[in-house]
Amino acid sequence: MSDCEDDVPRLSAETLAALHEFYAESGRTGPEQNSIKTDKFSVGAVEEDWRMSQFWYSEDTAARLAEEVMQQAGEHGRIACISAPSVYQKLKQLDSTRSDSVSAVLLEFDRRFAAYGDEFVFYDYNNPLCLPEDVLPQSFDIVIADPPYLSEECLGKVALTIKYLTKGKILLCTGAIMEEPAGKLMDLKICSFLPKHNHNLANEFRCYVNYESSLLS
Ligand SMILES: C[S@@+](CC[C@H](N)C(=O)[O-])C[C@H]1O[C@@H](n2cnc3c(N)ncnc32)[C@H](O)[C@@H]1O
Repeated sequence: MSDCEDDVPRLSAETLAALHEFYAESGRTGPEQNSIKTDKFSVGAVEEDWRMSQFWYSEDTAARLAEEVMQQAGEHGRIACISAPSVYQKLKQLDSTRSDSVSAVLLEFDRRFAAYGDEFVFYDYNNPLCLPEDVLPQSFDIVIADPPYLSEECLGKVALTIKYLTKGKILLCTGAIMEEPAGKLMDLKICSFLPKHNHNLANEFRCYVNYESSLLS
């Protein structure tokens, strides 16, 4: 495990107790490993596994962020979702109903998302530039990222990937405590918009952008 372990976003004590109770009552030991549900693009189709610091957005937040990156990418734009599978999933759901379609790629550590085929790229932030040859530099109109750990070490490495991939626009979701490094590393400004998760997290989460956005106000 990385030395970022202590910086894992945490569930509130109340949520954690409820989850333990649920697993105890259902006779299960934890999240199932290969549980892609029927609608493979629904948020939560892959169950959260806290050992990988997985905390999925609420439906509303996933939709708001997907709308934002679609709008910013523009018609037929390219979107990279780094460690943000819910946004990728919501993009796929929304995009199927539109004509001005975008394309999206999910860079993720959890290989359960390989079920998404060519749009899944295995990604470990510890090797931030270890990417397949066909993932070209500056080839995405916008990059959205939600790093697994709240540490400068982790954010610094993810920032290398973000800067490699983006043509310019960046949308970062992470803890409020990361405001200073987000500004220092990528010149990002904190937004007023408050991302919400399916389970309440003890850490305050925020979004950060480097472009004019309605998320800012
Ligand atoms: C805090 S969650 C962000 C998920 C986001 N809230 C969503 O709903 O899509 C962190 C993400 O980082 C991924 N992750 C875990 N370890 C990683 C690693 N070593 N490198 C890159 N991503 C990793 C997790 O699988 C998870 O999707």
